Formats: sequence, structure tokens, C-alpha cells
Amino acid sequence: MSYLIDSHSHLDFEDFDKDRDSVIQRAFDSGLKAIITIGTNLESSKKSIALAEKYENIFATVSLHPIDVDKEEFIGLTFLDLAHHPKVVAIGETGLDYYHSSDKEKQKQVFQKLVQIAIEVEKPIIIHSRDADEDILFLLKEMALPKSRGVIHCFGRDYEMAKKFLDLGFLISYTGNITYGSERQKSITEVPLEKIIVETDCPFLAPVPFRGQRNEPSCVKYVAEKIAEIKKIDFSAVAEQTTKNCIKLFNLPII
Ligand code: NI
Repeated sequence: MSYLIDSHSHLDFEDFDKDRDSVIQRAFDSGLKAIITIGTNLESSKKSIALAEKYENIFATVSLHPIDVDKEEFIGLTFLDLAHHPKVVAIGETGLDYYHSSDKEKQKQVFQKLVQIAIEVEKPIIIHSRDADEDILFLLKEMALPKSRGVIHCFGRDYEMAKKFLDLGFLISYTGNITYGSERQKSITEVPLEKIIVETDCPFLAPVPFRGQRNEPSCVKYVAEKIAEIKKIDFSAVAEQTTKNCIKLFNLPII
């Protein structure tokens, strides 16, 4: 069996309130080695940590998502404290979202503060970018992150843009929307497999053949299958290498 890691899920979301434990069980039964569950605000970050404490191979991240910066005040010390938790493997998702209407300046401030926290606790960052790649690249360069310190999640732009993140030492993460058509597949042929990780972003972005339904971690295999198809390589090669990349980036204590 080929093992995969879902590097980006939102298991704390209420979509999973009725059957969270069976969703998790199904994921591990389907051959997932680990799941990273992503915090999007203070409460969600705490819930993600609680899940990571409950399951050995679930890991958490903490953040205030750019689209949530208007909804709660960012308290740096609280997030710094959570970021130190041994099962917190990254800071994020953080970044900029110019598609949603939350205050751009506030988004930039919170993003910079979260990157500072990541630097302080020496953990990678998970970047969320929507219509904001150039500003994110500008801020990242300004903050002089150490090499290999993160991933740009839900990537769907061309290789030229992918290359700018690769040059800063970032990995590229693909999710279920690469199965929707060629538009979001543009970079996949050229981005080296050694720089790729996979994710579901569940409950969102269910891959074909489940498009439109609730997504869950076990569906990450459809993302890996699509990458294998586009790169014309074996599924097992994609599973093996992306899992290796993920373990290395997030320093996961699994073999
Ligand atoms: Ni997400």
C-alpha cells in the first residue's frame, strides 16, 4: 500500500461534528500516514491542537486566517504560546486574501506577526494566497525567512509564479481543484516532484469524482493520482516522494 499524508485539512470545522472520528478512521484505514489539521482562528487553532493530542498521527497548525482578521483581534502572545506546543508543526495558514473583503492592511500586519512567530519557534509557514501573490512575495523577501521554511498551499498558478516561491525555498502544495480541469494544472509538469506536497483542504475542494460533496482526508489520493497522470509517472512514486517531502518540511516524528 502506498502511504500518503494530507498536509492541509480542516478537521475542526463543524462540517465534521457529526462523524469526525469515523472520517479520521476512514483516512487511516485508506492508507494515510498522517494528517495535518489547520487552525484558522484562535478557537480553531485550539481545537486543532486538541485533535492532535487525541490522535498520534494527527498534527496541528495555529493561525488567524487572512479572511478572519476582521472577526477577532490577533493576540500575538497567545499564538506564540500555542505555537510552542510539541504537536504544532507549522504556523498558518496565513498570508493575504484580496478576493475576500477583510482589511488589507490588517491582513499584512497579522501575516507579518505570524511569520515572526514561525521564525521564533523555528517552524515552517503555510501560505494562503488569493489574488495576492506579488504582495506576499514582497513581504516574504522583506522578512528574510530561513531557507526551506514553508509551503504555498492550494497552488494553481503557472510555473513562472511557482518558480518565485521555489526560489524562496518554498514547497508547492496541490489540492483537489487540480482535478477540475487544465486551468490549475499549469505548473505541475515543471515543478519537480521533490518540491511537491499534497492536501485536501477538506471539507472544501473535493476532487473529481466527488466534486461538490464534502471533502475528507482519504480523498487526497485523487490529488496524487492526478499529479501522477500529468507527470506520466507511477502513483506510488508520487505517494512516496510527497510523503517524504512532507515529513521533512514539517519535521514529523513518523517513519
Ligand atoms: Ni485551508
